[in-house]
Amino acid sequence: MKGVVLAGGLGTRLHPLTKITNKHLLPVYNQPMIYYPIQTLVQAGIRELVLVTGGHFAGHFLNLLSNGKDLGLDVINYAYQEGEGGIAAALRLAHVFTKDEPMIVILGDNIIEDDITPFVQNFRKELGAKILLKEVPDPQRFGVAEIENGKIARIVEKPKQPKSNLAVIGVYMYDAHVFEIIRTLKPSDRGELEITDVNNAYLHEGKLTYDVIKGAWTDAGTFESLYRATRLVAEKEQR
Ligand code: DAU
Repeated sequence: MKGVVLAGGLGTRLHPLTKITNKHLLPVYNQPMIYYPIQTLVQAGIRELVLVTGGHFAGHFLNLLSNGKDLGLDVINYAYQEGEGGIAAALRLAHVFTKDEPMIVILGDNIIEDDITPFVQNFRKELGAKILLKEVPDPQRFGVAEIENGKIARIVEKPKQPKSNLAVIGVYMYDAHVFEIIRTLKPSDRGELEITDVNNAYLHEGKLTYDVIKGAWTDAGTFESLYRATRLVAEKEQR
């Protein structure tokens, strides 16, 4: 199974910091942000990775990660995303590397405390697609899953009035069918190919499963969440 780390986008919400490097290379406590999602994948047994990035500072990733050996990887491939066409548009670029294999996708600004190995093992038995959910106090900031009778009824991207407090975190497991789904997507109102539309497509095909994570989770794409991520890691280090 291959890993896909999505670290595209222009990080404008973190200006002026992102005028000097890519958002995912900014520090979260004692490591660059991108280390955390990569470590999450390595902990789950992933050894071959595709990293999708873009913007002016894409080369900085090569300086930091080189061939990925320091982080426990056997292979790291790089793909370049022009502009910010959305998470699903970034994922499409991974196809030449993942080919027909199932994959685990992680957003480059997601910091996850849990070991996700058991969820990955479940997915390997089921295939289709699996998403991970986390109870949060501010679901309107995320993709939100509505559960009915223990099953996902729908996923809504950043609802103004969320019907649950279960955020879809930035870890997605897919079989290679995902690329056929991406081909059918139309840009959303914000002009992006949305990963929520991918997940809803699997849902309609009856092939979407989920697990709820218990440990801490945050994204780190705004000053507030970057600070939260730093505090989360610092507190864990000091435990
Ligand atoms: O963090 C989880 C949330 O991430 C989910 O709950 C949402 O459903 C999902 O849409 C996404 O929401 P955001 O609006 O917070 O995503 P954002 O635009 O901040 O992008 C998150 C990461 O995805 C970013 O750090 C890098 C990658 N990305 C994003 C875009 C727009 C790309 O690689 N390329 C892109 O074009």
